[in-house]
Amino acid sequence: MKHSVIDRPEMLTATLRLGGAPLPLSEYATTGLLTLAVGPRGNGKTNAGLLMAEQLAEQGWVSVLIDPESELESLYGDAVAGPDELGALLASRERSILVVSAEDAAEFVPYGRAILEAADVHRKPIFVVIDEGQLFSAAKKRKGDMGEAADIINDFAGRGRKRALDLFVTALRYTGTLHRSLFANKNLTLIGCQEDPTVWSSLAPQFRASRIEFSDLNALAPGEFFCVSRRGTEKVKMPMAAALAKVAPKAAAVRRTLPANYSQWDRAMREIPDARLQALTDPVVNLLGIVAGLSTQQMLAGASALQDELDARA
Ligand SMILES: Nc1ncnc2c1ncn2[C@@H]1O[C@H](COP(=O)(O)OP(=O)(O)OP(=O)(O)O)[C@@H](O)[C@H]1O
Ligand SMILES: [Mg+2]
Repeated sequence: MKHSVIDRPEMLTATLRLGGAPLPLSEYATTGLLTLAVGPRGNGKTNAGLLMAEQLAEQGWVSVLIDPESELESLYGDAVAGPDELGALLASRERSILVVSAEDAAEFVPYGRAILEAADVHRKPIFVVIDEGQLFSAAKKRKGDMGEAADIINDFAGRGRKRALDLFVTALRYTGTLHRSLFANKNLTLIGCQEDPTVWSSLAPQFRASRIEFSDLNALAPGEFFCVSRRGTEKVKMPMAAALAKVAPKAAAVRRTLPANYSQWDRAMREIPDARLQALTDPVVNLLGIVAGLSTQQMLAGASALQDELDARA
């Protein structure tokens, strides 16, 4: 059988609607999609994967949802019975969303092979959602099932382009969670709330041009992401996936309580009564600092800010 170099007609007409400007997938026709969604627990990563899976399933893909936490069968129907059935369903394409129940790397491997084989043989669009990516891919090279699962996922990413295999993987943190080749080759990134300032050094390069700061990432609410695509960088408020919207309550928009700029800081400070500031004696501050794991420098900066405020009020 002959295959042309780029043979992805579905990419030329498909569009993703992730809450920002519609993203035409023609931009991805020559590379395929390697999507990473990064954010802490409860940030909306699973919803993002399901939303994309639903949208692509309506536009010619078969979406395969790897479900390690058994949360998806109630939304999309019973999981496939085994790797053989998965292979048969990827051949017949009679269902456009398939759930694969795999709790760990060992359970994933035979399904992963079935997906690779189907992609090799049929070359019809498949979208694989790997939720809880850290269960199936690791930063360090591993032996055994974890190593094999990670290799298969790298194969999805590396060989997928010519086999119409598109990918979505979630990670809890921006560094050190998945195999580095996924981070190196991603071409659509959804970055949710980041709570750890030390990841900023690895994130900063992709945000430098768009003047986005760590505090902007830190202020993201559940369902909000910075979407970094071929089109550029955009903040999006992700819609709920249809199946999830039926059952999940929308997360209440929570106002962040930590001040993000000087005037917020100033207002927050003024709302603290004198008596409470005076109660922050050295031993109390030291104890709180130890509990919070502050550095000496942070402690000194905090102590002098406190003193300044007390002086200003005196
Ligand atoms: N786009 C959204 N808009 C409003 N609420 C949302 C959105 N996405 C998620 N939520 C809410 O947040 C909850 C958690 O979402 P989700 O399960 O997708 O997070 P997650 O990042 O996958 O978390 P975990 O790491 O624990 O699996 C949802 O049940 C829903 O209530
Ligand atoms: Mg999840």
